[in-house]
Amino acid sequence: MNTIRILDKSVAERIAAGEVVERPASVVKELIENSIDAQAHAVSVEIREGGVSLIRVSDNGIGMSRADAALALERFATSKIVAAEDLSAIRTLGFRGEALPSIANVAQLEILTRTGGEIEGTRVRVVNGQAEVQVAGAPIGAQVVVRDLFYNAPARRKFQKSPLRETELIQKTLMTYALAYPRIAFRFVVDGREAVNLAPSQELERIGAVWGRQVAAEMVEVSYTSVDLHVHGFVSRPTLARASREWQTFFVNNRPVRSGLLTMMLERPYAGRLPPGRHPLAVIWIDVDPHLLDVNVHPRKAEVRFYQERAIYGAVTQATAQALHDFPQTIQSGQMDWSFANAASEGPMALALHESVADYGAGPWRAVGQIHNTYILAQSMDGLAIVDQHAAQEQIFYEQLTSASPGSSILGGDQPPPISSQIQLMPQEAELVNEHLEEYRSLGIEIEPFGENTFRLMAIPVFIPVDGLELITALVQEHERYRTLEGDELRDKLAAKAACISAIKAGDVLTPVQQQALLDALGQAYSPATCPHGRPVFVMLRLEELERRFLRR
Ligand SMILES: Nc1ncnc2c1ncn2[C@@H]1O[C@H](COP(=O)(O)OP(=O)(O)O)[C@@H](O)[C@H]1O
Ligand SMILES: [Mg+2]
Repeated sequence: MNTIRILDKSVAERIAAGEVVERPASVVKELIENSIDAQAHAVSVEIREGGVSLIRVSDNGIGMSRADAALALERFATSKIVAAEDLSAIRTLGFRGEALPSIANVAQLEILTRTGGEIEGTRVRVVNGQAEVQVAGAPIGAQVVVRDLFYNAPARRKFQKSPLRETELIQKTLMTYALAYPRIAFRFVVDGREAVNLAPSQELERIGAVWGRQVAAEMVEVSYTSVDLHVHGFVSRPTLARASREWQTFFVNNRPVRSGLLTMMLERPYAGRLPPGRHPLAVIWIDVDPHLLDVNVHPRKAEVRFYQERAIYGAVTQATAQALHDFPQTIQSGQMDWSFANAASEGPMALALHESVADYGAGPWRAVGQIHNTYILAQSMDGLAIVDQHAAQEQIFYEQLTSASPGSSILGGDQPPPISSQIQLMPQEAELVNEHLEEYRSLGIEIEPFGENTFRLMAIPVFIPVDGLELITALVQEHERYRTLEGDELRDKLAAKAACISAIKAGDVLTPVQQQALLDALGQAYSPATCPHGRPVFVMLRLEELERRFLRR
């Protein structure tokens, strides 16, 4: 008996729709792309309840004629390509003619539009799978309204995250396009409240509007041109870095793309300029001849394939390397082998304190004492190190937590976990934690769902001195702050938080033995010079400096 059958058209379409429309943010992405393709100068996105009850995207682009508006809802209806050859020369963001019909498949869709050449506009509504076209008053441009997303796909609906998180994802999407297209005005209205309003601007100005003015001030321009390739944009000075790669955006022919390789090529010139685990920020536009590009490799068009990869990746590295030329390489990776050849170039006011990655490696440090219950003085081979005890232990813990195997340690050893290890969370927190148990586990923290919004703490790393429940409570709070993160980026934030609350504090008295133990542990650290937040762990006062200041030479 035959078991393979061709799917019903409606079922097949529903499946295809699922590939394009994964969640509210993917609807917003497609609609913004359509507005940009329609040459809009202003795009406004309005949502309600995380986009599930309403998404409205309005633009002042070229709009659609009545006939086109009706056609736009047909599958594979597109004004952007005609023949298969056109696929290799795509300049627009859309080309598949799939977005609008896919959205119409899983939501109530309505288009209101008018072209410059028409007096009357058009309203198109999809009712029971049939497009209903009416004459209607409308400004030039298009407005697409999507209501009741996934009303007919309960499974999809169930998988949506909380409205707050969906809203954040939508805002992230919008901000990405705002970075890519600084000359377009963007507005974002959430449940009737304006959350974002960006005027048309220059590139760097837009970066400032999206990421903050201080960030923009720390960015340097990059640029590289060859025959059929142009790379330009902005990367952060080594003084500015983040623990995650969330702030790295690449646009290939103005299309936002994700690519581990591009990231790698961007970060290469930062070697020796950023401590391990720190990542530069970047906004980079790569413009290539569309023939060198295959944009048709990903259902949501988030990835592209280059035909001349080497040239393109090389250009990114080269452009960045040029921009960083003036910033010295002061960090050598590898442990304990840092010679900090800093000629005495301080001005008169510069205290002889190098808050930097000095040659920590020149042999073990001997604890001399503690001052103000906050700093440990240590004799090094060639001078004196002043160590911030909190930052030092924070970094040590952080590295232990993020190491490949944090050496998780079962609460109570081989015994069953104590009953007192249950924790009750708010529904929203519970949902968040539930989705990311893996990231917690990677830090050696085992939590198990245990009834409604309740979890059981099974294990925490041995070296964490704080109470398990206190630890989890603090981590969940931190997690809420970074609720859009996942994977390594989330793990990083959680590890930094766990390290921070576990570390000795400024003001804690340490015995000489404890002081020395801390210095010894720091000596084993991979990146002893900075704490997880990027602050220095110690400053050096060199013998040379002392000699100079005491006029011995
Ligand atoms: N905001 C808009 N302004 C003008 N035309 C639009 C707009 N949105 C969609 N269209 C028209 O509808 C067609 C179908 O859109 P879509 O389903 O997203 O497919 P694609 O973008 O791949 O062509 C587009 O090719 C375009 O002609
Ligand atoms: Mg489109």
